[in-house]
Amino acid sequence: MSTQTCPRAAGDPSSREEVGAAEDAELAKAILARQFHPSVLGPESWEGYRFSDMEIRIKESTDLYGAVLWPSAMVLCHFLETNQDKFCLRDKNVIELGAGTGLVTIVSSLLGAKVTSTDLPEVLGNLQYNVTRNTKGRCKYTPLVTELTWGQEAERLFPRITHRFDYVLAADVVYSHPYLDELMDTFEHLCQEATQILWAMRFRLDPENSFVDRFRQRFHLERLYDLPSLSIKLFRAWRKEKRTKNHGEAPA
Ligand SMILES: C[S@@+](CC[C@H](N)C(=O)[O-])C[C@H]1O[C@@H](n2cnc3c(N)ncnc32)[C@H](O)[C@@H]1O
Repeated sequence: MSTQTCPRAAGDPSSREEVGAAEDAELAKAILARQFHPSVLGPESWEGYRFSDMEIRIKESTDLYGAVLWPSAMVLCHFLETNQDKFCLRDKNVIELGAGTGLVTIVSSLLGAKVTSTDLPEVLGNLQYNVTRNTKGRCKYTPLVTELTWGQEAERLFPRITHRFDYVLAADVVYSHPYLDELMDTFEHLCQEATQILWAMRFRLDPENSFVDRFRQRFHLERLYDLPSLSIKLFRAWRKEKRTKNHGEAPA
């Protein structure tokens, strides 16, 4: 066999790691290349992103977690745009948790989803600004920006009988904040039998690992991307039904 087609022996663990690292670096590079900076500084500062053949301008500030765009959001957007054959958002009901500056909401809306974009009340002004600025006149459905504080009033705001989501999207919502139990309950509340969670997660400290372990007790979990160079993993998850007929098969 030629060394070009099979450069290393199969089963050699060091070679597998090298291949994995090369793929990681390639993918991470492609994802980070989505960002660009304004060539001319104007009165308002913004960061640019290219998704779905569109230029997206995001306004950030520095005072809140939700006022900054985190790399996990780019990872999730890249996945959504490049996997539309398997995860088609067109005409789907989508909710985003902890939307922050809104990139995931904007890209999902550009891809044709009906998006409900949620976050804490203090984040909504900037989120609404970015969402309107980047989706107005460009999308089939106008995204709805609204408050959802995890664990509080999820049933009143999104009753399960009337609110059925095809996808729950989340980027970098797990870190050492005191609302991890509430976040878990919110995932559980919003996730019905046919719902799929797409969740990009940056690993920093132990709370993230233990959240994943606890999450696994309630949801089936599949890893879609592993990007060690960014310390980010992307997961798909779906509910573990107690009365399941499908014995854990993923929703179509
Ligand atoms: C690290 S930021 C990620 C923002 C955005 N998803 C991104 O990736 O750029 C975490 C987000 O979770 C939101 N958040 C934190 N605690 C929350 C809570 N208790 N209820 C709702 N949202 C919360 C923050 O306001 C913030 O927008």
